[in-house]
Amino acid sequence: MEKKELIHEGKAKKLYATEDETMLIQLFKDDASAFNGAKKGTITGKGEINCTISSIFFEYLQSYHISNHYIKNLSPNEMLIKKLDIIPIEAVMRNVVTGSLEKRLGLQEGMMLEYPIFELYLKNDELGDPLINEHHAYALQVARPEEIRLMYRSTAKINAILKSFMERRGMVLVDFKLEFGRTDSGEIILADEISPDTCRFWDRKTHKKLDKDRFRFDMGGVEQAYREILERISSN
Ligand code: TMP
Repeated sequence: MEKKELIHEGKAKKLYATEDETMLIQLFKDDASAFNGAKKGTITGKGEINCTISSIFFEYLQSYHISNHYIKNLSPNEMLIKKLDIIPIEAVMRNVVTGSLEKRLGLQEGMMLEYPIFELYLKNDELGDPLINEHHAYALQVARPEEIRLMYRSTAKINAILKSFMERRGMVLVDFKLEFGRTDSGEIILADEISPDTCRFWDRKTHKKLDKDRFRFDMGGVEQAYREILERISSN
């Protein structure tokens, strides 16, 4: 599949057109950013690791009939994806308290949530991706109530599937962020990526952080943590 013009460049990925107007190439960069772009850096090898990790998760979810934009890998850091009309919302699911939830509600880090928390954030860099609810999404005409319901159901299913997948490999799926898009026929399917940039993973026994928090908080061992996730999810 031939790579044509660059159509979008984000903080961690680039999107290219292809000769097929229904498909795009998603290229994963080594660039890392945090705190809405205030912290920037490079994680050597991240592009290839996150592309491989995302493809493993996307294929695994497809085996559970969770539709997503992944078609196939084209190179170590490029995947062929379905072109979608992306909904500008970040859907977050949380199983354990940390990050912005810990700060916003003054909760203890590490508290297990008996009932996972589903949150929506509006994708808007100028506003710092504010927390919204389904009524804001509808009023701002970014998603209809039934679309938000579908996003919730899909995120809850993905949580159940990936939580036990990670548990079997000695890890806790702490929280994660998903993005969804519409196909031409109006179906809502999973898009973007699923990687240590967009999820929090802790070692089950030691609670060692194995995700982008190591970069966010200068904890060291960032590349090793990303590589460890890839190694652990590659083994059966
Ligand atoms: P938070 O605790 O900072 O709100 O993050 C919740 C989850 O969402 C965590 O797994 C990291 C992920 N996330 C992103 O993928 N992109 C973002 O811009 C933010 C703020 C969080």
